[in-house]
Amino acid sequence: MIMTSAAQLTLHSDFTAGEVDSRLFGSFVEHLGRCVYGGIYEPGHPTATDEGFRGDVLELVRELGPTLIRHPGGNFVSGYRWEDGVGPSHDRPRRLDLAWKTYESNEFGLNEFCSWARSAGTSVMETVNLGTRGPTEAQALVEYANHPGGSYWSDLRQSHGVEKPHDIRLWCLGNEMDGNWQMGAKTAPEYVRVASESAKMMRWTDPRIELVACGSTAPNMNTYPEWDLEVVDGLYDHADYLSLHTYIDPKKDRLAFLAAPMQMEEYIRRVISVCDVIRAKRRGKKDLNLAFDEYNVWRISDYAANLPKEWRVAPALLEDTYDVVDALVVATMMHVLLRQAGRVKIGCLAQLVNVIAPIRTVNGGPAWKQTIFHPFQIMARHARGLSLQPALRCSTEKHRELGPIPVLDAAAVLGERSLSIFVTNRSASHSVPLQIRVPDLQLGSRATGLVLQNRNPRMTNTARRPDAIRPRPIRPVPMGKKGCKILLPPLSWSWLEIPLAG
Ligand code: AHR
Repeated sequence: MIMTSAAQLTLHSDFTAGEVDSRLFGSFVEHLGRCVYGGIYEPGHPTATDEGFRGDVLELVRELGPTLIRHPGGNFVSGYRWEDGVGPSHDRPRRLDLAWKTYESNEFGLNEFCSWARSAGTSVMETVNLGTRGPTEAQALVEYANHPGGSYWSDLRQSHGVEKPHDIRLWCLGNEMDGNWQMGAKTAPEYVRVASESAKMMRWTDPRIELVACGSTAPNMNTYPEWDLEVVDGLYDHADYLSLHTYIDPKKDRLAFLAAPMQMEEYIRRVISVCDVIRAKRRGKKDLNLAFDEYNVWRISDYAANLPKEWRVAPALLEDTYDVVDALVVATMMHVLLRQAGRVKIGCLAQLVNVIAPIRTVNGGPAWKQTIFHPFQIMARHARGLSLQPALRCSTEKHRELGPIPVLDAAAVLGERSLSIFVTNRSASHSVPLQIRVPDLQLGSRATGLVLQNRNPRMTNTARRPDAIRPRPIRPVPMGKKGCKILLPPLSWSWLEIPLAG
């Protein structure tokens, strides 16, 4: 076995990065490809519930444990008329979705989604269309969803058989509105105008709601960072969160791919600075926090090279198959969210089923977990409590363009009964011995954990071999007075749980 020199991780409960918001473990359901139709909803499926929800997918979603699901888009929302998706199913219009060149039957809409989310044990983050529509329709949607009754839209909901309001607390003011691929894309002043008027009317309808404004889609957009400066300034009094998105394309060489979450962390830091400089400028009293409401690995260049050529119903789009390295990158993106938990309060793995997703299905057939399912599931369950700032010393690997890349990446969360440590080893050739030091906490006598790794890092799960990749338990680690030592295999992601003594 080839090993590097020992690395050292020091954690101290006085050095914290903030409380982990439970909404950091969200996901995303867009009307895109087979995420809804053939994904969460398939009335003819052998496991379908009375409402047409796939029972096998519901079980996997419960196991995955997302705390929040963003809906219904994404690019789709920017041309969506939400009214098409409520009321008697046979009266609902079939529309062209221009975002994904797809026929939308509208068989599945807001009420079905809220009912599905309840069955899945998760809450809803709904997005209003600020592309082709505006404040009037956004207000009507909040009234339909949240008003108890006695008004046009809330009575309409009740006439559709939904007596009680859905009580949706978290709303996005459009999606990626600076992107020219978006229906009704806007300049920053145009967006501020429509979003501020929508926000006002939405809040007047239900003052309990929280609102997420669109940040610039990505740091490589030429709208960045001016868009963010203008939008935060214009919406400072209206929004509670600014939205950020990042997709990492594995087209790059492997080390650059594994290192890419470092740029995501830089992006977060810069956008926090934007929020804070505007706060100072406005003599503001609140921190504008961040909603990282789309992130994942996405072979976006494959999609761009094979754009849909004809109109279809629920086509297989963006059905990326994930291998072990992809799972390490997703895990490392989640480390970034944990380390930035002081300001990033919402996170959504995009998306949930079939479309760049942790869960895959065959229409009429099985559903299974992709490799990225595992780190998400473990962190959604165990990264709860106080995020600690990891002080990590490790060797680096040199990348010709990016310079030295640390071989390890870590995050740690102190819960009520245990300390969870998450570590990625980026080295393809070396196991790394890691000395963990926790000088100030009283720890139990041994730690347990799981590791995700395979001799073949390109290995994936498939319908036939749904468990080819899954985490395996590590040998229990004896705890010394102030910590312990573990060995991290090459290209691996590990979770170590150390119980607190007493
Ligand atoms: O998640 C896929 C797409 O990526 C979403 O529709 C859009 O918001 C983003 O560009």
